[in-house]
Amino acid sequence: MLSRLGIISALAVSLFTFGASTPAVLLDNGLARTPPMGWNSWNHFGCDVSEQLIEQEADAIASSGMRDAGYHYVVIDDCWQTARDAHGVIVADSARFPHGIKALADYVHAKGLKFGIYTDAGTKTCQGRPGTLGHEVQDARTYASWGVDYVKEDWCNASGLVARVQYAKFRDALAHSGRPIVFSLCEWGSNQPWEWAPAIGNLWRTTDDIGDNWPSMLSNLDQNSQHSTVARPGAWNDPDMLEVGNGGMTDDEYRAHFSLWAIMAAPLMAGHDVRTMSPATREILTNREVIAVDQDPLGKQGILVGEDKSELQVWAKPLADGSRAVALLNRSSAAAKITASLARIGLHVDSATVRDLWAHEDRGTFRREYAAEVPSHGVIMLRIAPAKARAATTS
Ligand code: GLA
Repeated sequence: MLSRLGIISALAVSLFTFGASTPAVLLDNGLARTPPMGWNSWNHFGCDVSEQLIEQEADAIASSGMRDAGYHYVVIDDCWQTARDAHGVIVADSARFPHGIKALADYVHAKGLKFGIYTDAGTKTCQGRPGTLGHEVQDARTYASWGVDYVKEDWCNASGLVARVQYAKFRDALAHSGRPIVFSLCEWGSNQPWEWAPAIGNLWRTTDDIGDNWPSMLSNLDQNSQHSTVARPGAWNDPDMLEVGNGGMTDDEYRAHFSLWAIMAAPLMAGHDVRTMSPATREILTNREVIAVDQDPLGKQGILVGEDKSELQVWAKPLADGSRAVALLNRSSAAAKITASLARIGLHVDSATVRDLWAHEDRGTFRREYAAEVPSHGVIMLRIAPAKARAATTS
C-alpha cells in the first residue's frame, strides 16, 4: 500500500513526468482557453440583486483596475427571474430590472466587460425561481438575443434527471444559439462531473458551496485537487467562487485562498462588493504575477507535491516557460518554515532562481531547495525557474 507521501509522489510523477490523461471528447466551443475571470453576485449579495447594483459593480470593476487585470465576466446569479410569459419566455423581475436584461447587458458591454447570467437545469432554481427544464432551446436563444456571454446552470430541483443528459441539452442549445457563450456547470461535484463534463462545459463545480471561512476554503481546495488531471484549456475544475474581501478571513488567509486557486488553474470569479473593497482586497485580487500563474497558457492544474510535516504543504503547477509556480501553504496555527525541493516540484536541475509573487521580489539562485518562513494560515507564493541544466556526469 502506498504511504501518504507515496501517493503524493505518485501523483507528482503522473502530472510532471507523464502529463495528464486526455478525456476522449472535449467541448470545442473555443472559449475559456484560460480559466474564466470575472465577478458574480452570489457570495456577497445572494438574492439581493438589481440592475442598479450590477451597473455599479461593473463601474467599480472597470474603474478599480480589476477589468484590466483580467476580470471580464460580470455574472448575475440567482433571483433575477420571476416567471415565464404566455409564450414560455423567461421574464426578469421588473421591479429590480426595470429596463430589462438586454439593457443591462448593453451597459456591461459598454464598460468593456462581458455579461453572464444564471439558470438551473431543473424545474426551479435553488431560490425557487423558474428553471430551464423543457425550455433549454428557448432560454439559450433568449440569452443570446440579450447578449449573454456566460451561463451558469445550477442543479436544484432536478430529482429524477440525469446530469450529463440535461447539461448536454443545454450545451447543444447554446451551440445553436448563434452566440459564443461560456458554459459553467454547477452540480457541486455530485455526479462525478470530472468524468463527463469536459465534453459538455467550460467549467464544472467540484464541491459544495464555499463559505467565507478558512476550513471551507481548505475543504474545497482538497476536494478540487483530486481531479487535477482533467483540467486543460477550455475545460476547468471549479472549486467555487472567491470569497476574497467578504470579511470572514484574514488578509493572509485570503492571499492563501487566491494563491491556491491560481495554482489549481481555477476560475477566478470574485464574489465581494467591489464598490467598497479595501486597498488590501484590491491588491490581492489584482496581483498580476499571481493571476499570470492562473492564466498560464499551458493550462495545467497544480497539485500537492509534498507535506513533510503535517499541515505544512508544498503545492506546484508547471508553467508554459518550463518554470513552476509554487505555494508554500501553512495550514497550522503557528508560523513555520516550509521547504520546497526542486526535484519535488518537478525541476530536475541543480539550481533555480526564485521570485516571490506577493513581495514582488527576486530572492536569488538556490541549490536543491528553497525554504521560507510562512505565516500561520498563509502562503509564500513563488515562481521557480531552472537556472541551468544539470551538468552531464562522466564516470
Ligand atoms: C447554489 C449554487 C450557488 C448559487 C446558489 C443560488 O447553491 O451552488 O453557487 O448559485 O445556488 O441559489
